[in-house]
Amino acid sequence: MTDNAKFQVPGKDGEYPVLEGSVGPKVVDIRKFYADTGMFTYDPGFTSTASCDSGLTYIDGGEGVLLHRGYPIGQLAEQSSFMEVAYLLLNKELPSKDELDKFMWTITRHTMVHEQLATFFRGFRRDAHPMAIMCGAVGAMSAFYHDSTDITDPQQRMIASHRLIAKMPTIAAMAYKYSIGQPFLYPDNDLSYTGNFLRMTFGVPAEKYEVDPVIEKALDRIFILHADHEQNASTSTVRLAGSSGANPFACIAAGIACLWGPAHGGANEAALNMLREIGTPERIPEYIARAKNKDDPFRLMGFGHRVYKNYDPRATVMQQTVREVFKAMDVKDPVFDVALQLEEIALNDDYFVEKKLFPNVDFYSGVVLSAIGFPTAMFTALFALARTVGWVAQWNEMISDPAQKIGRPRQLYTGPTQRDYVALDKR
Ligand code: SDX
Repeated sequence: MTDNAKFQVPGKDGEYPVLEGSVGPKVVDIRKFYADTGMFTYDPGFTSTASCDSGLTYIDGGEGVLLHRGYPIGQLAEQSSFMEVAYLLLNKELPSKDELDKFMWTITRHTMVHEQLATFFRGFRRDAHPMAIMCGAVGAMSAFYHDSTDITDPQQRMIASHRLIAKMPTIAAMAYKYSIGQPFLYPDNDLSYTGNFLRMTFGVPAEKYEVDPVIEKALDRIFILHADHEQNASTSTVRLAGSSGANPFACIAAGIACLWGPAHGGANEAALNMLREIGTPERIPEYIARAKNKDDPFRLMGFGHRVYKNYDPRATVMQQTVREVFKAMDVKDPVFDVALQLEEIALNDDYFVEKKLFPNVDFYSGVVLSAIGFPTAMFTALFALARTVGWVAQWNEMISDPAQKIGRPRQLYTGPTQRDYVALDKR
């Protein structure tokens, strides 16, 4: 048991319990702080605030450690599969073979979407950004699957979770097909989760599509790297939306919208665009200088992280995956050399060293996704596809917590104090 945290504010002092998790920083339980002091704590951006307790994912930002239910990301990426990681995040333990087979059977049989949802797509412009389509289509799922929106029913919560995990690849592939004017392909239940997605994305009705096992394995590993990541902005959005009792489809649509931002999941698209704009190693110093210039809003996309003040362990695996895919596809993309040299120069530059800015999961992901054949605009949709597993697991964890309450932060008010209305003819 840890001693209480003692505090003193003008005219008041008191103590608050310090709570200890299984690993990582302790927390001061300040839930009674406002009632006791009439003051709020202040933490825009939540740099020092724990919003919940969770058993899903642990990150040690200083050491570059990422655990899912205690298992290191490097071991999961090397030895597990995305479906097994999905099971682990949803059910707390690694599955037995029978449990995994049953889980995959269930997910596989939820991969089709309602035929009316396909019609829904026709309303979008062909050049709509895939993330705009994902926001719309996933939000629209609550208009189709009414039988799994009662969040008080654990059975319905699990069906909704399975539907979301299963249908995200179908919806993402449909968004891509729609953008290039090709017909949608129905899922093929004989294929793996990731193989099915590859076929729906790159296959055409006119010919048989052979899934390349090397690409299938690489993409499955990329999905594992994106599955969950503690209380990041989009996961916190899903939790906040869910805390009001909103249905799971609406909550995930909110998470997709938040992930789209370039400071978050949109960084993979922005990072590859940046690497292509730099173009050659000779131009790297110009961009490093811009990133360091306070008067220039430019930032190195794919660099830096709120939590990791060391190398993002996912970036390590991602870089290895680039090499694997390049070798398998006999691809040579100068943008990879630019990325490697940019990393090398930045990690030896005082600015980045002092601010502990390292490559994050988004720095290399675009290079490998582009080599596989995805257009840049699809990168964040792939991030959303994979992160849906974490979002639904975090949402289930929150909703099944009997102590769960609606999230409702307060503020430091800086607007006008009370004043009387002035009639129009007096202004
Ligand atoms: C993801 O939270 C998660 O877990 C997210 C994620 C997940 O899996 O869910 O890991 C996925 O979103 C990864 C991050 C992807 N975003 C980018 O790569 C965009 C570029 N990076 C950033 O804009 C920034 O690093 C953030 C948003 C990721 C983190 O921002 P913070 O923690 O709020 O840090 P900050 O903006 O306060 O920066 C601290 C300092 C600042 O300089 P000073 O004001 O102290 O002088 O570092 C500088 C920043 O200017 N800085 C950068 C920089 N990132 C931070 N300078 C140049 N290039 C950068 N990329």
